[in-house]
Amino acid sequence: MTAIPIVDAQDISRRDALRGQALLQPTRFVLSAGDRVAITGPSGSGKSVFLRTLALLDPLDGGRILWHGKPVARATIPRYRRNVAYIRQRPAILDGTVEDNLRYPFTLRAYRDVSFDRARAASFAAQAGRGSDFLEKHASELSGGEAQITALIRVLQLSPEVLLLDEPTASLDPESTLAIEGLVNAWFSAGEDQRASMWVSHDLAQAERMSRRHLTMRAGVLSERTAASAMAAPEAPDNDNGSQERAR
Ligand SMILES: Nc1ncnc2c1ncn2[C@@H]1O[C@H](COP(=O)(O)OP(=O)(O)O)[C@@H](O)[C@H]1O
Ligand SMILES: [Mg+2]
Repeated sequence: MTAIPIVDAQDISRRDALRGQALLQPTRFVLSAGDRVAITGPSGSGKSVFLRTLALLDPLDGGRILWHGKPVARATIPRYRRNVAYIRQRPAILDGTVEDNLRYPFTLRAYRDVSFDRARAASFAAQAGRGSDFLEKHASELSGGEAQITALIRVLQLSPEVLLLDEPTASLDPESTLAIEGLVNAWFSAGEDQRASMWVSHDLAQAERMSRRHLTMRAGVLSERTAASAMAAPEAPDNDNGSQERAR
């Protein structure tokens, strides 16, 4: 018996709403438990569009997404997004402390069945090499790396099935990059037979470290990467809102 994939995207596509230009060509993509996928490709090729579409953050213009074999109905989207979580390059950190940020999801309807666990949050912070005072740090005191660590813990504490990581370390220092990778590896190991990750990176060494399967995106077309093409030169990191954030 073949296991049912976690996510089965069937001919999903996206168009530019204004000009009708194809951003993502009809794409079949299957993500199964245990998969660790990396995506590389030039800036502007549609990697973020693809991840955001898979996360059902942007509307589908064609195709459908099956989650555990069933089409995702409108009413199921919040539960789907909770389990198939998208991590942006530039995290949205709210004003307040790290703890305020970590508590925030639990104020939302989609998470009313769970509650904030401070000890667990602190243990994630410790995994990322941060001391017990980290939760009290104010948003304005966080380095770029600490902001991303906060954003990742905010998602990990909700035990998602899938992480869609969109260049999460592109503008971070090496120490924060390793902390992020460590958190993702620990999350994956804790539920390897039920979890899967997809990591967009311009750093080929990182793509190698964080995945067992490589895909490339070119002009909205996704393809499996061959060993030969994997040797191509890396591209510059994407810049998702026009200004490059630098780690302090
Ligand atoms: N919501 C949108 N509406 C219109 N065009 C978009 C939208 N999002 C992205 N694009 C365009 O789609 C193309 C692919 O963008 P993106 O997925 O961000 O590329 P990548 O992540 O590979 O650098 C770019 O030309 C970008 O300008
Ligand atoms: Mg991008």
